[in-house]
Amino acid sequence: MSTPKKILITGGNGFIGSHTIIDLLEKGYEVISIDNVSRSKQFIAEKIKTITQKEFTNYRVDCRDLPKLRNIVSGHPDIAGIIHFAAFKSVSESVQKPLIYFDNNMNSTINILRIAEEYQIPNFVFSSSCSVYGNTTELPVSELTPLSTPESPYGWTKLLAEQMIEAHARSAETNFISLRYFNPVGAHESGAIGEIPYSDPENLVPNITQTAIGKKEGFTVFGNTYNTPDGSCIRDYVHVMDIAEAHTLALEYLMNGRNTSNYEVFNLGSGKGISVLELINAFEKVSGKQLNYTIGEPRPGDVVSIYADNTKAQQILGWICKRNIDEMMLSAWNWELAMQKEQII
Ligand code: WQD
Repeated sequence: MSTPKKILITGGNGFIGSHTIIDLLEKGYEVISIDNVSRSKQFIAEKIKTITQKEFTNYRVDCRDLPKLRNIVSGHPDIAGIIHFAAFKSVSESVQKPLIYFDNNMNSTINILRIAEEYQIPNFVFSSSCSVYGNTTELPVSELTPLSTPESPYGWTKLLAEQMIEAHARSAETNFISLRYFNPVGAHESGAIGEIPYSDPENLVPNITQTAIGKKEGFTVFGNTYNTPDGSCIRDYVHVMDIAEAHTLALEYLMNGRNTSNYEVFNLGSGKGISVLELINAFEKVSGKQLNYTIGEPRPGDVVSIYADNTKAQQILGWICKRNIDEMMLSAWNWELAMQKEQII
């Protein structure tokens, strides 16, 4: 058995990061995780070890602390790749506090780029977002779709980080990939980990599951008079484990030297557009719960419809989006039930 390749994960306690660590451990990689636990929970690391029955190294460090990052990485020579997840990700919070988003998300990324350069780490995957496409009307969205003005400072941090990485890559030895997520939802099939909203949830699926379990009285559907078949907004929902598997595939694509440039971008979406009302129906069907919601005004900044052309990730990374909307809703519901049972807030 060759020595397992070491992968450095920032934001490893977070929603996408924790699910990706599970996939990496199960595929035989050694994982070093850095997370300041400012927007996640420390117990997630223990849950990952229970699910996988494997150990990994954890550091509670802020990615803005460059000396501490250097201290960690110098103790782990020959890291084969980095996946940089660590970021604040609330669209509404970023509108209220743009400077903390630019400080946290941009300075963390600059530091991790410096670490990759100083320690000659050959491969780097960046956690980006479909929000870089802004309010595009070109559907489905491919990687060639022109980028547009993001709708929020959060979206700006993803666009600016992508542009910074692309410019840096021109003179860097490291190989880079940006993965643009559409709407990651659901939870690991064990029901042992999932999304833990940092505050009152703004995203649709946590609002649905919290309403279904009684944590919330109900929720609002933000608009049903859009120019879509049922009048509600359309999004491309994708299971978090499908997203996790794509990260391992992206790293392997780089580690196996299959990349044709040292900066490439891939859309991670299911390729299917599903409306808010269709998603609600899917949840009610799989959970057997009748949801209490009202139709309200459109939410400022919402894109009417966006869904991915995921051909490039399928053909080049060999990524298959395996889990359908029913599996996404059922796993999200099982996680909400597990949080209630274990009294996780
Ligand atoms: C989805 C739809 C709302 C809540 C998210 C992230 C963004 C990016 C993409 C990663 C919209 C409607 C919502 C509610 C509702 N992910 N809605 N009632 O805005 O597409 O963006 O995924 O980078 O960072 O924020 O997701 O779940 O907030 O909204 O009607 O209570 O559900 O109007 O049409 P969004 P969302």
